[in-house]
Amino acid sequence: MSSIQQAAVALKSGQLVAFPTETVYGLGADAENPDAVAKIYSVKQRPTDHPLIVHIADKDAAKKWAIEIPQYALQLADAFWPGPMTLILKRSSLAKDFITGGQDTVGLRVPDHPVALELLRSFSELGGNGVAAPSANLFGRVSPTSAEAVQSEISSRLSDADLILEGGDSVVGIESTIIDCTQSRPRILRPGAISAEQIMTKTNLSMLDSGERIRVSGAMESHYSPRARVVLNDEAKPGDGLIASAQIATPPQVIRLAAPTTDEEYAQQLYAALRKADQLGIQRVVAITPAGDGIALAIRDRLRKASS
Ligand code: TXA
Ligand code: MG
Repeated sequence: MSSIQQAAVALKSGQLVAFPTETVYGLGADAENPDAVAKIYSVKQRPTDHPLIVHIADKDAAKKWAIEIPQYALQLADAFWPGPMTLILKRSSLAKDFITGGQDTVGLRVPDHPVALELLRSFSELGGNGVAAPSANLFGRVSPTSAEAVQSEISSRLSDADLILEGGDSVVGIESTIIDCTQSRPRILRPGAISAEQIMTKTNLSMLDSGERIRVSGAMESHYSPRARVVLNDEAKPGDGLIASAQIATPPQVIRLAAPTTDEEYAQQLYAALRKADQLGIQRVVAITPAGDGIALAIRDRLRKASS
């Protein structure tokens, strides 16, 4: 048996498995097993009214977890799954209150990572229907984008039978775009790598307006926070950490944490840079936010929350 098949068996028998996805690493449990899901909340120290995303192997599995799926949601699934997009749909009876936080909707995603997809397929061969997985960080902290980050974040809180799968650095680096599909038109609840413009180009679907001040998912404003204080668009002083595009020079005695050349690289490097700040014991991190739409909007959303 491969390590991924062993992990599928562990999930089926009620253990936790942290696994890589293209966005961030998730902390997975069988989405039909209330005791296993309860362990996620206890490891993360997460309030139990926060719903979890159910990860599935393909679009067909969505029909088990959701009912009355609108045509536009199927279009989105065809265009962007597997990929960094979560659809919020009306739940079926499979999606119990312990997954949805008591809401009548369920979040579904097919992740685009070979290890995650093999895990989900092996899990379904064992009769599983979906893997509930929040980001594998403690509640309110920075999401992990590597197996080492998962280790240092939560391994001391896992049991011996729980597993962490290795899958390299997450290529997207920030959490999926969450799209509410319960209205007449789709609406972005959490911005991510898949933007409204991209959706328009690929599917001709226009979003209900949500603007930049999205509050829904994660509900709390303070999120994605390192121990260091994060300050946006300020002057970096000696001893500060700096996250900014490569075009911006590093002032003397400032510790450069990331120097991305594109917005995609910025997203990819952001959480590792915030973790590095904490490892180095840096007190204050200055981030110069990228301008514009697309993934830049999602980066500003995360940085705003990290700074509040
Ligand atoms: O990229 C991602 O989405 C990662 C990877 C592991 O897939 N997962 C992730 O999960 O970011 P988490 O739990 O850290 O964030 C999921 C967010 C939460 O803020 C939750 O409130 C929201 O999705 N959510 C889940 N189900 C929902 C629902 N039915 N309605 C509204 N929001 C929901
Ligand atoms: Mg999270």
